[in-house]
Formats: sequence, structure tokens, C-alpha cells
Amino acid sequence: MDLLSPAVVENPYPAFKELREYEPAHWSNEHNAWLITRFEDVIRGYKDPRLSSAHISNLFQGPQDAPSQKILDGWMEFRDPPDHTRLRKLVQKAFTPKVVESLKPRIQEIANDLIKSLNPQTPEDLVKQFAYPLPAIVIGEMLGVPSTDREQFQIWSNEIKNLIFGIGDERERRVTARKGLFELRKYFEGILFELHNNPRDGLLNSLVEAKEANEKLTADEIIGTCVLLLFAGHETTTNLIANGILALSKQPQDVRKMFSDQENSSRVVEEVLRFEGPLKLMVRSAKTSLSLKGQRVRKSDRVFLIQASANRDERQYEDPDKFWPSRKDRPHLAFGHGIHFCLGAPLARIEGQIALGELFTRFPRLKVDTHKPSWEASILSRSLKELPTILEPQEE
Ligand code: HEM
Repeated sequence: MDLLSPAVVENPYPAFKELREYEPAHWSNEHNAWLITRFEDVIRGYKDPRLSSAHISNLFQGPQDAPSQKILDGWMEFRDPPDHTRLRKLVQKAFTPKVVESLKPRIQEIANDLIKSLNPQTPEDLVKQFAYPLPAIVIGEMLGVPSTDREQFQIWSNEIKNLIFGIGDERERRVTARKGLFELRKYFEGILFELHNNPRDGLLNSLVEAKEANEKLTADEIIGTCVLLLFAGHETTTNLIANGILALSKQPQDVRKMFSDQENSSRVVEEVLRFEGPLKLMVRSAKTSLSLKGQRVRKSDRVFLIQASANRDERQYEDPDKFWPSRKDRPHLAFGHGIHFCLGAPLARIEGQIALGELFTRFPRLKVDTHKPSWEASILSRSLKELPTILEPQEE
């Protein structure tokens, strides 16, 4: 099964359904990986200590690539305990629901400014004009990077995206990512040097202080963490907002009502995350040989835990292929599960609720102006390349 074949890129769900039914642990020659598709098995995979997250080590070879490799080695996402525990503990404080709640007024303001800049009369690309800039501005402000550098950040983030999400030719991905990682490293070294001399409050400062208080965070790990937060903050929430706009634009009922209060808004966003979540799968590698659903997995085999399939598992959900914004209390796996559960989930949830709520309250009849949305050919992510939208369509 090839996750990059055009039919699967356009709509991966029928292929996942077939795998869940007939071969829930399937070996893919195309990806050199086991594809795990049932809800129960994906959860079990997340919790299995024999499946390692350190699958990205030695992606780059040669001394000239050592600085780029070190950045990825500093990502907690690609580390196992005990390093993972140490790194996560330090960043966790910045993303508690309480901290995120305090960011709400600013997120609201950013959403409204972006909405005001849209032209209701001409088609707008809501990926470019809304879904992308909103989370990018939020994470940029959290990291305390100057707003004038944001365009440059978009370029670096894109360069890394192809490698992390598996987009395009495999060799080219590495070459581009190497450049982005190298430049980001230099950039953050400069910012951190500045901060060391002139400390000011913020997420970066707390990382620097943790290092100076000897909490065992190396300079490479700090830079790796900055790049991870910047990247995670940019790319995934964009997909949540864009995929949400697409799903909600097809709803016949009054979408404004769906965002009438906090509880309803939260339900809509959880359903977007389940139905068309930003990431299709997470990668692990087997630390030892083991058996999965009766299949023999060899040491070092890659295992894809496919949450986009788990989230449509008929064993778990009633009518799983239906987008049902008032669906109640069915937990999903869009943010993963277990020790690597997404650290930014409270932030992403609030950004999604505010962005979709404000947009549909202002433009309740908006129409996506294409019958065939263009999805990025990516192994990991479920990203729309663009979303041409007419905000105030004429009455038919
Ligand atoms: C809707 C948006 C988002 C989705 C769907 C998402 C999804 C995920 C998933 C599935 C993981 C688990 C990775 C694994 O098990 O290998 C993860 C980890 C992580 N995410 Fe998110 N994410 C989102 C937004 C964010 C944001 C906004 C941030 C921060 C600015 C963030 C920061 C992180 C970090 C730091 C980790 C690593 C946690 C660890 O390894 O312990 N994410 N995310």
C-alpha cells in the first residue's frame, strides 16, 4: 500500500478501512514499514516501550551535517526516556491549560485582524490568508521572535516540513531540510546570545534559565526545542483550521450555532480532529524483534501508527465516516497517546476554537470554491495546499 499514490493522497480512508478489515498489521514495501490501522492496536503501539521514537537518529551523515543532526536529536519527539522525560518536563510548564487560557484574548485579536483583512467579494485562499498566519503569529510571539523575521521563518519551516512529513523526493527532502536546519540554528544561536545578555520574560528565557540552573539541558537541546516548537506551532494547527473550514463549509445547518458556547465549540473542534486530523500517522522503530497481530516484526523495522485510520475505526465510532460536529465524548488519537501526547494540544485546541468560531460567525455562508480540494502528497500530514473560498456568496 502506497500512501503517496494519488488516490490515497486524495482520500486515504477507503484504503485504511480495507486494511483494518483484512490486514490490521500490513507490511508496506513502498514505505518499508508496518502499517497499524485499528484503534486498539494504535493505542497499544503508543504505549509499547519496545517501539522507539528515536527513529530519526543518523538521518544525516558526514561531519558537515552534524549541526543539523544535533537539532533533530534535541527534539523530545524523537527521544525515548529518560532523555525524553527530562526535556519534556522543562517545556511542559509553558503549555498548561492555565497559561494557554491567558493567551486567549491575544489569539482572538489576531484572528479578528486577519478576518478584517479578507476581501468578502473576491475568492481568498484561506490557507495562505488565515489558517497559516494565525498559529504562526501565536508561536512567534510565544518564542519572542521579532515579527519582521516571520517571512523568513515560513521559508525555514517549509524546508523542514518536507523531511518531517515525508513530502517529495527522499534525497531532495534531506538537502532542503539541511539548509533550513542550519540557518535556523544560526538564527536561534543569535537570539539566545542576545537573551543571555539582556534577559526578558518568555518561553525562551525559561529554557535558558533552566540550562543555567544546571537542569541538564544542553545548548543543542535548547536550540532543538526552539526549532521543534516553532515547527510544531506552525504546521499542524494550520491543518486543523483549514481542514475544519473545509468540513464545516459542507454543513447544511447554521454553523454559527455550533460555536454558540465553549462546550459546543470544543465539540466541533474535537470532531474536526477526529474526522480530518492534521497528522495521519506517527513513526516508531522496533527496538527488538516482536510480534504484532500475529506478524513477525524484526528489530529496527519501522512501524506506522496510523491515527487517521484509528479515528475512523468502526469498532470505536458510530458512523465513523460521517462528520458529526455534535458527536459526544468519543476520544480520538489526533494528538497521539501516552508519554509523547502532544504538548501543544491545549494551545492548538484554543486556536482552532477561536479561529473557526470567529470566521464562521463573521461569514456563516462561506463556500469553498473547488470541487476537488488539493491535498499535499505527504506520508504524515493531512494538509491542504490551498483553500480558495468565497466568503459572501451571492444568493442562488
Ligand atoms: C492541531 C494541532 C496539533 C496536532 C494534531 C499535534 C499532534 C501531535 C502528535 C500526534 C504528537 C505525538 C508525537 C508522537 O507520538 O510521536 C505531538 C507531539 C508534540 N507536539 Fe503537537 N500537535 C499539534 C499542535 C502542536 C502545537 C501548537 C505545539 C506547540 C507549539 C505542539 C508541540 C508538540 C510537542 C513539543 C510534541 C512532542 C511531545 C513529546 O514528544 O513528548 N503541537 N503533536
